[in-house]
Amino acid sequence: MLRVSQPDITAPGVSILAAFTGLAGPTGLTFDSRRVLFNSESGTSMSCPHVAGIAGLLKALHPDWSPAAIKSAIMTTTRVQDNTRRPMSNSSFLRATPFAYGAGHVQPNRAADPGLVYDTNATDYLHFLCALGYNSTVIGTFMDGPNACPARPRKPEDLNYPSVTVPHLSASGEPRTVTRRVRNVGAEPAAYDVRVREPRGVSVSVRPSRLEFAAAGEEKEFAVTFRARAGRFLPGEYVFGQMVWSDGAGRRRHRVRSPVVVRVGAHRTSKTSVPVA
Ligand SMILES: *[C@@H]1O[C@H](CO)[C@@H](O)[C@H](O)[C@H]1NC(C)=O
Ligand SMILES: *[C@@H]1O[C@H](CO)[C@@H](O)[C@H](O)[C@H]1NC(C)=O
Ligand SMILES: *[C@@H]1O[C@H](CO)[C@@H](O)[C@H](O)[C@H]1NC(C)=O
Repeated sequence: MLRVSQPDITAPGVSILAAFTGLAGPTGLTFDSRRVLFNSESGTSMSCPHVAGIAGLLKALHPDWSPAAIKSAIMTTTRVQDNTRRPMSNSSFLRATPFAYGAGHVQPNRAADPGLVYDTNATDYLHFLCALGYNSTVIGTFMDGPNACPARPRKPEDLNYPSVTVPHLSASGEPRTVTRRVRNVGAEPAAYDVRVREPRGVSVSVRPSRLEFAAAGEEKEFAVTFRARAGRFLPGEYVFGQMVWSDGAGRRRHRVRSPVVVRVGAHRTSKTSVPVA
């Protein structure tokens, strides 16, 4: 079962001019005896180094940011339009979803100043693994120190991730609440208001809907509650929306966007059977 929607991000990956091996010709065919220093290549192996390079630049700009904070900055500052400003399409020229582009297409300059980050530390991941059903003995094999799972079990959906996935919302209208926490890495003081584009057939409310930070570095929690709208949802289908925290108007405003992925009416499967996907 889906726990964390993937992929996280897209980056340039089509016809990228890249350094090329001397062990093969540019076509890769055995009779191609040409040797080139550079070649035009496509795929995830081309987009991955773009993101790795951006992560390195962000670490240089913000040496105190954790890997999770860097990932959050990259994910929440993307765009979901293509370069003609229309909704991104997939390779069949049909409207793409977060299952194709994740949080969107990376925008490095905006990632340098995201406003807020969803940070995740070792405790968060520990609780996530406990929520997936791994017991303290198993967790103890790769964590040092006291590592008991929390007394009050958490849900996998509560992992402080920059996207929100609810894979089994009750079809009978029973609400499901997930929690998140954001840290102000921008100006101080700062106030952010939330706007949600609801997935089809699902109501989403965020409490509180305004976060006020007195200082940089401050963290605030909020809760997102999902509820299926009777007769309006698509049973068993993933539907998509977004949640955006914004600190107002003007050129220097921040928009901290998370994709929201929900499926109504699918049954919970066994707790331990499926890893994060
Ligand atoms: C493109 O998106 C459509 C609609 O979501 C989907 O049915 C189709 O399989 C996708 N094509 C590819 C190549 O992913
Ligand atoms: C992780 O962050 C949470 C929330 O800020 C905090 O309570 C916890 O102590 C942190 N854990 C570690 C290992 O820093
Ligand atoms: C923890 O899980 C492992 C693997 O499933 C199992 O072998 C072990 O007996 C469990 N330990 C406890 C204390 O439940």
